[in-house]
Amino acid sequence: MAILRGHELLASEVASQIALHTVYGGVVPEVASRHHLRTLQPVIGRALAKAQVSLRDMDAFAATSGPGLATSLMIGASVAKALAIGFRKPYLAVNHLEGHLLSPFFGAPDGDGKYPQRPAIALVVSGGHTLLVEIEDFGRYQLLGQTRDDAAGEAFDKVGKLLGLPYPGGPHVDRLARQGDSARHHFPRGMLDSDDFNFSFSGLKTAVRYLLPKLGTIHLPDVCASFQEAVVDVLVTKTLRAARARGLRLVALSGGVSCNSRLREKMRAACAAAGLELLVAPPALCTDNAAMIGYVAVRKLARGESSSLISDIDPNLRLVA
Ligand code: KG4
Ligand code: ZN
Repeated sequence: MAILRGHELLASEVASQIALHTVYGGVVPEVASRHHLRTLQPVIGRALAKAQVSLRDMDAFAATSGPGLATSLMIGASVAKALAIGFRKPYLAVNHLEGHLLSPFFGAPDGDGKYPQRPAIALVVSGGHTLLVEIEDFGRYQLLGQTRDDAAGEAFDKVGKLLGLPYPGGPHVDRLARQGDSARHHFPRGMLDSDDFNFSFSGLKTAVRYLLPKLGTIHLPDVCASFQEAVVDVLVTKTLRAARARGLRLVALSGGVSCNSRLREKMRAACAAAGLELLVAPPALCTDNAAMIGYVAVRKLARGESSSLISDIDPNLRLVA
């Protein structure tokens, strides 16, 4: 739950479910939605207290309408709609992916709040998606490429699981990789040389799986660093190639995987070397959060947009229709 006044973030409360899902080694949809039901009201209360406002002060209510788990989306959307009806205010359905996509622009030093002032190449890397997008303007996006199989975050989590790390594996792989040698194992860079902007990470995951039994003793940091380097290599190379192909000078990096320290470092170095400007959201805005959804809602509202109260959630909602 987040509360925004214009582009100012007054409160952002995240009810983390990580501890809950660690027990099962992944997200169990029913467990997730029951947790939503239990925590939503207290989280709303906490956010209101922090922002020192009441529900009556709100100009609009927004929720994520997809993509995501149906039972979780339903709860958020139902509550936002109920509040919109109760307080006679607009309701805004926000695309989860648009939230990630625009998160690097939230709080960016844009002076007049008009970011993106110029078109950008955006890489969205989360647990469920890996997208390369051309942002033409707010609300005008062109999908250049996406993963053909596993998302980048999914690859991190599955490899984390193979290595016996807790769920989600991404942050643990990142942490261990810092002490590892990324040149120790050579893993495949799927679709690195394809002449499109798509990705593939399932072969990489399989390569890790087949390597493990062959290793006498597994030095986790080296496996993590080598795996991570393969993912990051492809992500950075394809993003820069897309920027060059489209003649764009601005790169925006977002989604949970954009917390990854090596991805940030390598993307920063590559953009600097190519003379590109890079925008990355602060880590709190990279993994799922309501602030990024609120930011899109504020921008939609400013353009006079709102959503129908009978608009439904869509677990498979796309960024570009
Ligand atoms: O955006 P997000 O919070 O949720 C989705 O929309 O999917 O992304 C979660 C993903 C998980 O796969 C998690 O392992 C990954 O982001 N992640 C990381 C790191 N922090 C989170 N992956 C690699 N390195 C990290 N530091
Ligand atoms: Zn997400």
